[in-house]
Amino acid sequence: MTTRTRILTGITTTGTPHLGNYAGAIRPAIVASRDSNADSFYFLADYHALIKCDDPLRIQRSRLEIAATWLAGGLDVDRVTFYRQSDIPEIPELTWLLTCVAAKGLLNRAHAYKASVDKNVETGEDPDAGITMGLYSYPVLMAADILMFNAHKVPVGRDQIQHVEMARDIGQRFNHLFGQGKEFFTMPEALIEESVATLPGLDGRKMSKSYDNTIPLFSSAKEMKDAISRIVTDSRAPGEAKDPDNSHLFTLFQAFATGAQADEFRSELLQGLGWGEAKNRLFQLLDNELGESRERYHQLIERPADLEDMLQIGAQKARSVATPFLHELREAVGLRSFVAQTQVAATTKKKTAKAARFVSFREEDSSFRFRLLAADGEQLLLSRNFADGKTAGQVTKQLQSGQPLDVRSEDRSFSVWLEGECVADSPTFADDTARDVAIDTLRVALTPVQE
Ligand code: TRP
Repeated sequence: MTTRTRILTGITTTGTPHLGNYAGAIRPAIVASRDSNADSFYFLADYHALIKCDDPLRIQRSRLEIAATWLAGGLDVDRVTFYRQSDIPEIPELTWLLTCVAAKGLLNRAHAYKASVDKNVETGEDPDAGITMGLYSYPVLMAADILMFNAHKVPVGRDQIQHVEMARDIGQRFNHLFGQGKEFFTMPEALIEESVATLPGLDGRKMSKSYDNTIPLFSSAKEMKDAISRIVTDSRAPGEAKDPDNSHLFTLFQAFATGAQADEFRSELLQGLGWGEAKNRLFQLLDNELGESRERYHQLIERPADLEDMLQIGAQKARSVATPFLHELREAVGLRSFVAQTQVAATTKKKTAKAARFVSFREEDSSFRFRLLAADGEQLLLSRNFADGKTAGQVTKQLQSGQPLDVRSEDRSFSVWLEGECVADSPTFADDTARDVAIDTLRVALTPVQE
């Protein structure tokens, strides 16, 4: 298997994405995820949102809107792993393991925390007034997000660079203390896209919710139009030449136009196009670019159950990496079963890893299939049909290669996926518990035996 670059980023779920978020973060991330060398992990940082917001309705609304925005924008959930942080119980568990090695002095230096302290001191308050442990520990939770999946690259805004550096620091310390020569955690790098547009808002300052100068993204065509009509321009009358290079209306246009469209708009402005007409052009452009996505967005928002399903599948994909990795980390710090290691190793080896076996057979239509039988003969998997024996063989090989298993459960059964394709299904079990036990057995059976 080729090693792809693992790209991971989180989106804090407070607020509704606006045009600036779309051009600055969402669109480039979706484009990057299409690169065949990228293995992208994108998630809703809803635990982080709790640090900043104690309004449950707003948290809930924002998670839904952000999920729908990314999907409507064209994120392909078969290609990427898209999930909610709060669906991955391994994240808070890892946060604790990291908290126990993170130096307090390191966290004292975090910009966000320091800024709050400085403000308190300035106003004569107690230095820690109104500061929660959530805010203080924010970088440790973020380190867990990143280290859990061994991300290589972490696309973030400049204000987050320090947090990625802290993740390295904390990860390194854990490696050093518990790795015994093994590097558990990959050292992540912050990825700052210099070329990516920071869009100006209605008043020309950076588009930001805190300046109240945003253009809405998918709410409705009318709202977008209304916002555009409020873009501040100079007072040149229709017929007078405009200066495109000093017009943030032009900058906004450019961020969504082809080179040719931008050139044409530029020359029209130079020739004295009125600002009212210029605003119409901008609206037309944005509506063309975003109208279809807007429709998809509203369809998604109206079907929250579908969004829920997609995110559950994403969570399963993420957990197929997180669960075995966290198990390893727990072992490393000494949170181990009381049953002696050698015993466990011996029995799993005999009972499962050794004895589980693939049995291939041919269907009447001459396609090839296989079953995976557990030690006791119980059927764990029945494969889909493959055109030839070679493909079937490759699939069984890949399943045993030790790469993270993509297991997706549905009701009382589960299926196994490779590279976005379902390759095998389980039988239907009596209940969820029986299903989960079978998934565990499957995982052990497919773990390469270490001699
Ligand atoms: N703190 C990030 C922000 O506010 C969001 C975030 C949470 C994140 N966890 C992350 C970003 C992990 C990258 C990686 O923008």
